[in-house]
Amino acid sequence: MTGLQQIEGPLSEAAVFLVLTIKDDDGAWDRVRTTVAGSDDLLKNVLSRDLDRSASLTVGIGASAWDRLVRRPAPKELHPFRELRGTARTAVSTPGDLIFHVRASRRDLCYELTRQIMLALGDDVTVEDDTIGFRYFDGRDLLGFVDGTANPIDEQLAPAAVVGEEDPDHAGGSYLVVQKYLHELTRWDGLGTAAQEQVIGRTKAENIELPDADHGQKSHKTLNTITVDGVEYDILRDNMPFGSAVEGDSGTYFIGYSRRLWVTERMLERMFLGDPPGMYDRILDVSRPVTGTTFFVPASPYLLAIDDGPSDASSSASGDLSTVIAETAEVAAAASAAPGPDRSIPDVLGDS
Ligand code: HEM
Repeated sequence: MTGLQQIEGPLSEAAVFLVLTIKDDDGAWDRVRTTVAGSDDLLKNVLSRDLDRSASLTVGIGASAWDRLVRRPAPKELHPFRELRGTARTAVSTPGDLIFHVRASRRDLCYELTRQIMLALGDDVTVEDDTIGFRYFDGRDLLGFVDGTANPIDEQLAPAAVVGEEDPDHAGGSYLVVQKYLHELTRWDGLGTAAQEQVIGRTKAENIELPDADHGQKSHKTLNTITVDGVEYDILRDNMPFGSAVEGDSGTYFIGYSRRLWVTERMLERMFLGDPPGMYDRILDVSRPVTGTTFFVPASPYLLAIDDGPSDASSSASGDLSTVIAETAEVAAAASAAPGPDRSIPDVLGDS
């Protein structure tokens, strides 16, 4: 789980989701760019103080910030989070130029890495959201269900979550959508276990998948199963519970990494607008999103080179993009040759 821009890995005990916007001042953008390009040093600072070296950092760049921060062509599908107005709830779209997704085996490591990130960024950024996640029993959300079961693993992971040859400049990266949901737990508890299981599409105690409904109301699991021309498209989630035990103050931080942004967007449409239209995801009766933001998480060589100058500059640094892409492809090829699921960068060139 150790590393920069490693989206895969087992669920961690603790996480921080830090969403920031950058002050509207060119100096601030320059300084932030330099800090982001030094993300590996920030991570190393903390890892070197932990013998288990069990922390990871994923940095995402918001659609609204890409051009000014990166100064190179954006990933093909990247655009701001689109608000969705459903019958029950609105999927709100909220600001975010950067996200730092910190995961670690211990809460103190998350705290320290976040502290060092904020020290480095100083007054150049505004905190839009800072959510501290925790693991809840056997990977359950606060609704009491095991969350993350259907995630792609091993050789399924890269084809689902990592951009490949369809966008060579951004191979090795991933689209990231986050939403912070607040739960009404008293209302949820009032439903009773059998009704809750119908909402989710799995049994509560044993996490057994229930059959899809043939018609009418679909479960959360069924609405989030995206099949086009017989092919099922997955995303990688690393949701975390957060908050205090005070009613209305806790919930689920949804975080979804995908190779194709449209897949996550299709899921959101099915949840909020319903399928058939109007038959929205009943999880929304007790879950209200208060944020919604889209980012792109570049492969780590790309991220570390974003301070090297704009792609159209005549300086000697202007050729760096191709160097970075070649480097990314090289690392990815080497990683894909490594056995087992522990490789640090998955096979970005695999067929989907
Ligand atoms: C209130 C927030 C949410 C909660 C509490 C929640 C909880 C769950 C649970 C308990 C499962 C079943 C176990 C599993 O496979 O992980 C599940 C499945 C899933 N959820 Fe969510 N989820 C939330 C929001 C979302 C959102 C916003 C998306 C997508 C945009 C999403 C996508 C999925 C997918 C893809 C699956 C797997 C479906 C399958 O079985 O193929 N979830 N979720």
